[in-house]
Amino acid sequence: MAEIVLASTKEAAGEVVASHIAGLVAGNPETVLGVATGSTPLPVYEALGARARDGLDFSRVSAYALDEYVGLPVEHPESYRSVITKEFVEAVGADPSRVHVPDGSLERIETAGERYEALLAASGGVDLQILGIGTTGHIGFNEPGSSFGSLTRVKTLTEQTRIDNARFFDSLDEVPIHCVTQGLGTILRAKHLVLLAFGEGKAEALAASVEGPVSSSMPGSAIQLHPHVTVVVDDAAASRLKHLDYYRWAADHKPAWQGL
Ligand code: PGA
Repeated sequence: MAEIVLASTKEAAGEVVASHIAGLVAGNPETVLGVATGSTPLPVYEALGARARDGLDFSRVSAYALDEYVGLPVEHPESYRSVITKEFVEAVGADPSRVHVPDGSLERIETAGERYEALLAASGGVDLQILGIGTTGHIGFNEPGSSFGSLTRVKTLTEQTRIDNARFFDSLDEVPIHCVTQGLGTILRAKHLVLLAFGEGKAEALAASVEGPVSSSMPGSAIQLHPHVTVVVDDAAASRLKHLDYYRWAADHKPAWQGL
């Protein structure tokens, strides 16, 4: 099962994950990271930025984003290319030529999925994939019903996800309807999944993903099929977990030799 890490704050969660990633990068300057967008991963990027300012070199790290909106110009401030550039690349001083985001441009959208899968295959594999979870239970933009074998492809966003993301746009109408997203099958190929969730709004999807039945109706439950998953949550996001006492007990008795 996933290891559940209970963090007192988002910032503390960001520190835990950043400290682990910093260890990976120090050990292998060509670490391949899977990066996510949205509000959830920001504390991780901020904490990584602090390590970069302290001298950790990210210039040979590669990064692969989970998803991109279809039809939003890359220079739009809410395109995931722009968001990853601002929140991750600029924070850590990564080499933009090593940072990849699916191509959401309409011109070649039919082949966007297979082109991204080819890039991922050439990367040698993602060492650590950062994940958020949507209120619908999506990871990446794999909305309910997504196949556990799915690869990068165009998906239609649910109305709920568009409403959730409208806060980044001037109006709901501006939120794109389609996206290109890594599939659940793509995500499951990463060597280590780190799923973060903060706040009461994520509690239900988080509990269903960690403890509920494995079902394509709850895409986050795909993590139960992966051999190495770390879930990092604050108290509010953890509040619906049935076995919370056990997770606390396991954390209190974590063997000293065991990393994340
Ligand atoms: P959020 O989005 O981090 O902005 O809450 C998470 C997600 O939709 O995966």
